[in-house]
Amino acid sequence: VNYQNTLAFALELDRQDPLAAFRDEFIIPQHDGGDMIYLCGNSLGLQPKGTADIIAQQLNNWSKYAVEGWFDGDTPWMFYHKQLTNSLAGIVGALPAEVVAMNTLTVNLHFLLVSFYKPTNKRFKIIMEGGAFPSDQYAVESQVRFHGYDPKESIIEVFPRDGEDTLRT
Ligand SMILES: Cc1ncc(COP(=O)(O)O)c(C=O)c1O
Repeated sequence: VNYQNTLAFALELDRQDPLAAFRDEFIIPQHDGGDMIYLCGNSLGLQPKGTADIIAQQLNNWSKYAVEGWFDGDTPWMFYHKQLTNSLAGIVGALPAEVVAMNTLTVNLHFLLVSFYKPTNKRFKIIMEGGAFPSDQYAVESQVRFHGYDPKESIIEVFPRDGEDTLRT
């Protein structure tokens, strides 16, 4: 691609984007009389237009089957994760046997830290963004304490410099 810093070039790339039609599947909040430009990639995405109906369908199953909803109805909850395995493997470049969609972000953060945070007296500090999402901070703090270390000494929070909005690499 011969990159050009022009609006025409950006619009042309949008035109060629095979996923462009998916934009219409989402509810885009309005701002100043137009669609908001939404660039949040690390947290909550836009609400798909189909979400309210799908949730209503599951609330209906819950009222109809109660605990049996795990096994009964058109979409039993027990095996939901299996529906996501192949697409998730494709997204992260793993084999289907290596991935599973599960838990909340915070629970998964704990699992991640249990696997790779093996502190020693010489190497125990964790560097993280300053003022992170509270549950992220508590997860890191809990793991540090669990290994017998002091969060005050072990967690290094990094903030942008005065007058700047992003961290310098
Ligand atoms: C950066 C970040 N950390 C943690 C969370 C909390 O996620 P959960 O409630 O799934 O643990 C969120 C939720 O949006 C988040 O954006």
